Amino acid sequence: MQLKITVLEGDGIGPEVTREAVAVLRTIADVCGHQFEFTARLIGGAAIREEGSPLPSATLETCLAGDAVFLGAVGAPEFDALPPPRRPEAGLLALRRSLGDYANLRPAIAYDAIAAASPLRPEVTRGADILIVRELLGGLYFGEPRGLAADRGAAANTMCYSVAEIERVARIAFAAASKRSRKVTSVDKANVLETSQLWRETVSRIAKEYPDVALDHLFVDACAMHLITNPRRFDVILTENLFGDILSDEAAVITGSLGMLGSASIGGKVALFEPVHGSAPDIAGQGIANPCGAIASAALLLRYGGGLEHEAAVVEDAIRSVLAAGYRTPDINAGAEGIQSSTSEMGKLVAAAVERTIDDRG
Ligand code: NAD
Ligand code: IPM
Ligand code: MN
Repeated sequence: MQLKITVLEGDGIGPEVTREAVAVLRTIADVCGHQFEFTARLIGGAAIREEGSPLPSATLETCLAGDAVFLGAVGAPEFDALPPPRRPEAGLLALRRSLGDYANLRPAIAYDAIAAASPLRPEVTRGADILIVRELLGGLYFGEPRGLAADRGAAANTMCYSVAEIERVARIAFAAASKRSRKVTSVDKANVLETSQLWRETVSRIAKEYPDVALDHLFVDACAMHLITNPRRFDVILTENLFGDILSDEAAVITGSLGMLGSASIGGKVALFEPVHGSAPDIAGQGIANPCGAIASAALLLRYGGGLEHEAAVVEDAIRSVLAAGYRTPDINAGAEGIQSSTSEMGKLVAAAVERTIDDRG
């Protein structure tokens, strides 16, 4: 299999975790005989500094010409005072939109080995395995009109959804659920918002195409509560853009750390893979960031970007086995019960576990 992968390290811990994810992909290529070609490009704050734009045209062109995009993270405190369109984050939003990836899959799995990393009791988190399907190109993020009045006395953003936008992401969620535990929970605010009423109505109609999948609905405020009191009640959560952004960070609490979560953004011309976390300026440059979310995103790249299901599962098993062997970055070693490891040590351990598995199993 040949894959052209565009690598956008971005800002803060982005380069640190991306390095480890790319090393795991290189290991897969070597041991399985695939040809992966990596092309690095600038995005976010790094691109503003070099090129004056958070998404330079050379970056977008390379992304569109490749088979998959891997992104670390964007965002840096030096740009915090800038308006949204000039910030590093604008580069990521423009990239998602240009690629057309409307469905963002964010798996959150509670690994037994690191149950102690979560502030939730192990009996609450044990066995939790949730897939959040977040609509990625609509809602408040992109709705018009938007803006800040010249006198800064008022500001507006618009939440807007068309039936077609809801249908296409709903089908992704139902199709995913039919291969998992066959349950979709659609999350909205239909007691207040018209966009949510349309969402609920449309999702209920699409559900009829998937008779083997059960559907229930929750208001987002109640969902936020159920998510951490009874995470096992969920299989697939389907929700709009901003709700999905917030709920996926909350779901990280079930897994022990935001650093554990990977994601795949699909549905468009080229799929995009990135950890759920941001650039974490508070720990950047210290070599302590958890690379598991980035490596989990690399596994999703193998699955959704290359159709390499076996290789994806090998990488996911490798993460699980390194955790089971007791290795922990500080974010998942709160009680210091594990073997404290740096970003690169964790990455090397996962790559070594990948190699071992493939040597043993072929
Ligand atoms: P963040 O996700 O960067 O960090 C939140 C907290 O989680 C921090 O305490 C951080 O240290 C910790 N954390 C995050 N990833 C970790 C990892 N891999 N290992 C260990 N700990 C980890 O969110 P924030 O601090 O609110 O935002 C920082 C910047 O990142 C902002 O500019 C924001 O816009 C941007 N951001 C970017 C993305 C992205 O690129 N996809 C996502 C979220 C936030
Ligand atoms: C995420 C991030 C982004 C989002 C930001 C950085 C634009 O929080 O990927 O979750 O809100 O989608
Ligand atoms: Mn987010």
